[in-house]
Order: sequence, then C-alpha cells, then structure tokens
Amino acid sequence: MKIEKPILVLGAGNMGGAMARCWHAAGIANLQVVARNDARREALRAEGITCYATLAEAKDDYAMMVLAIKPQQFAAMQHELRVAEGTLLMSIMAGVPLATLQQVAPLAVRVMPNLPALIGESMSGACAPALDAPHRAMVTLLLEAVGKVAWVEDEETLHAVTAISGSGSGYVFAFMEALEAAAKNHGFTPEMARLLVTQTFRGAALLADQSSETLSQLRQNVTSPGGTTQAGLGVFTQQGLAQMVQEATEATASRSRELAG
Ligand SMILES: NC(=O)c1ccc[n+]([C@@H]2O[C@H](COP(=O)([O-])OP(=O)(O)OC[C@H]3O[C@@H](n4cnc5c(N)ncnc54)[C@H](OP(=O)(O)O)[C@@H]3O)[C@@H](O)[C@H]2O)c1
Repeated sequence: MKIEKPILVLGAGNMGGAMARCWHAAGIANLQVVARNDARREALRAEGITCYATLAEAKDDYAMMVLAIKPQQFAAMQHELRVAEGTLLMSIMAGVPLATLQQVAPLAVRVMPNLPALIGESMSGACAPALDAPHRAMVTLLLEAVGKVAWVEDEETLHAVTAISGSGSGYVFAFMEALEAAAKNHGFTPEMARLLVTQTFRGAALLADQSSETLSQLRQNVTSPGGTTQAGLGVFTQQGLAQMVQEATEATASRSRELAG
C-alpha cells in the first residue's frame, strides 16, 4: 500500500532520520524531511529523500507530519507549526500530551518507539483514542515498517509502554554491559566478551520471538536441576532481580508522568 500524499518528518536526528529512511526504503510514501543540519540534509538528499532546511520551505499538502524533535525544541517552534485540515500529526516526543498536540492539529497520534527503530526493529506503542480506522491503519502501516506496534487506549498506558519497551532497550543494554564486564573478569578479550554477550542476547531474543513457549518455560528449558544455569539464576533470585526490575519500571513510568505534567 502506498500513501498518496507525501509525509513530512520534522527533525532528522537519530529517530527521525532512521524512520524516514525506513519509510523511504519501503516505498510507503513520498518522504520529505526538515533537517536543519547541513550534513544530515545532504546525506538524506543523496539517498533520494526531499529535504528542507526549514519548516517554512515545506509547503505540500501532507497526509501526515511527524514530529521527531525533542519536547523542548517543540516548545520553541510550536507557534510556527501549521498543520492543514485533514493532515495527521504524529508525535514521537516523550511526554508531550495529546491535548497539547491537538492545539496544533485536531487529528493527532502519540507514538512511543524505541531505539532499535534505528535498524527497523522498534517496539512502538501508539495512542489516539479518537482516531478513525483509516488513519489508524496508516499509522500502523508506518510503524510496522520500522518494527512492531501495539495500540493502547489511553495515555496513562503509554507511560507503562515507556516503562517496558520505550526505556526497555536501555535496561537490556545495562544487563548486556554487566554480562560483558563479567566476561572480561573471566579473562576474555573485549572483542570476545562483546561477541559472547551480543550473540547470546540475539539468539535468546530470536528464540523467544519464534517460540510458542512462555518465557518462563524457555528459562526452565535451559535450567536442569542442580546444573550450571540454576546455580547462576539462584543468585538472581536471592538478590531479588524480579523485584528490582519491577521497581525500575515503576521509576520510569513515574518519571514519564512527571515529564508529561
Ligand atoms: N532516542 C530514543 O530512543 C527515543 C525513543 C522514544 C522517543 N524518542 C523521542 O524522539 C524524539 C527525537 O529523539 P532523537 O533521539 O532522535 O533526538 P535528536 O537526535 O536530538 O533529534 C532531534 C532532531 O530534531 C532537529 N530539530 C529540532 N528542532 C528543529 C526544527 N525546528 N526544525 C528542524 N529540525 C529540528 C534537531 O536538530 P539539531 O541537531 O540542529 O538540534 C535534531 O536533529 C524526542 O522527542 C524523543 O523524546 C526518542
């Protein structure tokens, strides 16, 4: 499916640049990007994407405008943002509520992607309780081109999405980092430590994705009674890993609410 009217991405940083590239590569729509950084603009142009240095230069009739700037940058330019009637405003900004977006555009959707959007493997949450089915389908199409999407019915749940998947890649990297440090302590070179850790996470994530078994069952499958894995997992249980993770997600959700407020 190709979206007839063009899509404008405002902000060509990590997320905006990556999402625009994925959508362009998938041929979903005519992609246009506002990139104020010269080097980023030229790099995107070289890939065949129409770019502007400022929002004022972009004048097409858009199917969708995507806000991929920081919340504080949005506050600075909100007054100059003009969204035509019928254009859907998609925001990936953390902590900017739908009510604020709707002051700019009545048709608005909030999306919480995560960092693997950089390689087209985002887990995105999307929220727009009043959005009609055709616009939802358009958002789903775009988010499935950069990974997977879960729709939630209220913004409170979007804080929970932030706590699990939005910030989740950060938790995973922290765990990987700790395992990498342990690997070095066991005498492995940095290259070998990185390889052992990265491929272990990749393999486990792919297996979990492809398996019909629960995560608990998968864990039990590698844990023979009295065996090596059980010895290691016993330390996690003793140190309260599950409780620690629960508290981390609560801290993230609570910070997300604070930023939105
Ligand atoms: N990174 C993540 O993992 C993640 C996850 C979920 C949600 N988000 C959200 O995604 C948004 C973008 O994050 P990011 O990591 O991609 O940030 P980023 O790399 O700093 O990208 C923001 C980009 O927007 C540009 N920009 C700002 N104001 C502009 C304007 N008026 N016109 C044109 N371009 C403008 C900035 O240009 P300059 O470089 O010139 O300032 C920068 O290139 C944030 O709101 C964040 O909350 C990020």
